[in-house]
Amino acid sequence: MFEVLPLLPNDPILGLSIAYANDVNADKVDLGVGVYKNDSGQTPIMKAVAEAEKLRIARDITKAYTPPAGVPGANEASTRLVFGAEHPAVAAGRVRTVQAPGGCGALRVAAELIQRAKPGATLWVSTPTWANHMPLLGSAGLKLREYPYYDYASHNINFAAMLATFNEIPRGDLVLLHACCHNPSGADLTNAQWDQVADVLVERGIIPFVDMAYQGFGEGLEEDAYGLRMLANRVPEMIVANSFSKNFGLYRERAASLSLVFADTRQADAGFSQVLNVARAIYSMPPAHGSTIVDIILHSDELTRLWQSELTQMRERIAGLRVHLVQSLSSLQQTRDFSFIAKERGMFSFLGLTVEQVRKLKSDYSIYMTDTSRISVAGLTKEKMDYVAKAIVAVL
Ligand SMILES: Cc1ncc(COP(=O)(O)O)c(C=O)c1O
Repeated sequence: MFEVLPLLPNDPILGLSIAYANDVNADKVDLGVGVYKNDSGQTPIMKAVAEAEKLRIARDITKAYTPPAGVPGANEASTRLVFGAEHPAVAAGRVRTVQAPGGCGALRVAAELIQRAKPGATLWVSTPTWANHMPLLGSAGLKLREYPYYDYASHNINFAAMLATFNEIPRGDLVLLHACCHNPSGADLTNAQWDQVADVLVERGIIPFVDMAYQGFGEGLEEDAYGLRMLANRVPEMIVANSFSKNFGLYRERAASLSLVFADTRQADAGFSQVLNVARAIYSMPPAHGSTIVDIILHSDELTRLWQSELTQMRERIAGLRVHLVQSLSSLQQTRDFSFIAKERGMFSFLGLTVEQVRKLKSDYSIYMTDTSRISVAGLTKEKMDYVAKAIVAVL
């Protein structure tokens, strides 16, 4: 039976990591995968996470299955982190949260739930969006359509075109919005733009589906959640896929939550039973380790403070690298304006290079990024800044 399956090429982003690992050049730089790295080029275990892991091991007395919705304390803590301490929709009992195996797991379960409620529903995604959104959401059976978002020429959001498209989306369709740190562009909506988006969604009865993979990497934990919290106040139904991979550095533990906002508590009870049933048919129950760590940290004032200070350091390091890269590039040439990099947020920015220029950076300088010239800014270090800036200018 398997003889009919052809060999597939490597995933474009994961394939880059493999090529980087095999490169023997000591100067090599990986700006491909969206994983935070410190100034030594490592992805460290956060101190708060290491402390929580010790507590977890000391406290755990069983490896019995977790409940189907995951670790209860993690659900309560995730809901508080995502929606804020006293969100009216949470207080009204309209929000239900389950743990999921990574943000990818949360997105996929949500897509399957949408497919049950509204088979073949249309979900509008930004152009561009994270490459994995399409297979994750499309293979559940949803119809995917695109709305304009990032204008490569001006390095800005094409907000007028985005709103114009939203104004034509049929009632009952869904739109996927990035809560913050848009992947792959780094260009985020302002609060005023979020408000305008909400006006259109409310007026037209469009359902928001928010993907939050970088809470705390943009402006701060509260600031980054502005759009989704405001939307949850204004719309009857909404979906939030929330990943702890980046902000807790728990990548391989597959820790995430899926929160669903329902119109009323009766629908919330029914929807909750359905989401558990969807998960049961895929993986039964989510892994416990990562979400237990989140539970322990967010239920300890001391560990929460430690985690927040580490997250602040990560955010500030990336913001500092953005400014440093802009300065380095503008000190070497004045024909091209790269100042947009310092205005963008989170891990990513598009350099605006051609595919040939990107390939030359890889072949001649061992600098790795996706063919679209999306860089993961966190992959830079102070030490390598000069080398990278000179190489970029050399290929321009
Ligand atoms: C926009 C976006 N959503 C979701 C995810 C999924 O994260 P994970 O499955 O690693 O938790 C990522 C990861 O890179 C992402 O960038």
